[in-house]
Amino acid sequence: MRPGAVHLVVRGFGFGQDVAMKAAVLERLGEPGRFIMREVPDPAPAPGEVVVEIDAASLNARDAWIAATPGRVELPAILGSDACGRIVDLGRNVEGAARGDRVLVYPALYWGTAEDTPAPEWEILGVPHQGTFAERIALPVENVRPAPARLDNFEAAALPLAALTAWRALVTRGRVAPGQTVLITGAGSGVATFLVQMAVTQGARVLVTSSTTEKIDRSRALGAESGVLYTDKEWPEKVGPVDLVVDSAGAPTLEVVFRCLRPGGTYVNFGDTIAGEAHFDVGDLYWYQYNVLGSTMGSPHDFDVMLEHVTGAEWRPVIDSVYPLEELGDAFRRLRAGDRFGKVVVTVG
Ligand SMILES: NC(=O)c1ccc[n+]([C@@H]2O[C@H](COP(=O)([O-])OP(=O)(O)OC[C@H]3O[C@@H](n4cnc5c(N)ncnc54)[C@H](OP(=O)(O)O)[C@@H]3O)[C@@H](O)[C@H]2O)c1
Repeated sequence: MRPGAVHLVVRGFGFGQDVAMKAAVLERLGEPGRFIMREVPDPAPAPGEVVVEIDAASLNARDAWIAATPGRVELPAILGSDACGRIVDLGRNVEGAARGDRVLVYPALYWGTAEDTPAPEWEILGVPHQGTFAERIALPVENVRPAPARLDNFEAAALPLAALTAWRALVTRGRVAPGQTVLITGAGSGVATFLVQMAVTQGARVLVTSSTTEKIDRSRALGAESGVLYTDKEWPEKVGPVDLVVDSAGAPTLEVVFRCLRPGGTYVNFGDTIAGEAHFDVGDLYWYQYNVLGSTMGSPHDFDVMLEHVTGAEWRPVIDSVYPLEELGDAFRRLRAGDRFGKVVVTVG
């Protein structure tokens, strides 16, 4: 390791010792956390792994939560679950990939073979393993896919975690169907912008909730029909009845969602941005035969089907802003900004 390079306590898939790469290393927790550009050991591919030279990476709520929450990570650490880049090195026994391939990362590690739930040992890329806010990363070859050629590097890097989560919640779990009315809550979020575009492409009538009329208008530009402010206490009556609600606010939505679901309708939750307990009438649950479902990220099959959808679709990921990796702290500040709409991306190298 070169003098001045930091020792990382994260697990890497294959770290060499001699050459150094640059990474935005989280050295102190906070909002946004203190990220410093450091030289760290260069990844070397173990058997079955590839090394990806990263062109762009994107931020997720998970990264901000880890950087702000004591006990979630041993410092120093490299966060980041999403990336688009090129394969620059191959370990032994790698098949189906070659140097120069333009790829995306599939950010669920060790999902296993079941479709309904991941294996107990599954992990999300980026803590405890090295994440993507770095020049290079070594990954199992099963965790890379060809990047959709119609998207640029920023758009492709915006996809992995958020578009996978959106696809599983909406299609695999929610079973959206043409002609259905679908409500997406929190329209400005990274995942929600994908949900709106995917639901419209599936032939659904899409409604949204948001905190500002500006973000509702921007959702309409993506194909949503209309929206209401979730700050309005009567919002469920103003949007209902709907067939499917896809939500990540959590408690505040679950508490009132039966007021806007049609009997037999489905509520899918994939997050609790507003943490807490929800109270609802169990009598309503069984009498009106509601489906209440949880969803998290997605299987390798979900990822492949999502990429097939993206490849054939016309919509493009919504990029709110792009920052150089050296300004990762500012990128995290932007992620928290009230007027942010869509994904925040960093350009690497
Ligand atoms: N389970 C999984 O696999 C998975 C994957 C990705 C994300 N998540 C979780 O899902 C959530 C969203 O992720 P993200 O990356 O898309 O987050 P994000 O971009 O940070 O967005 C959070 C959004 O929450 C919305 N919101 C806040 N209070 C709300 C309320 N009372 N009702 C409805 N919406 C409300 C806001 O929408 P407006 O801006 O429109 O006001 C905001 O944009 C986070 O909690 C994240 O941890 C889970």
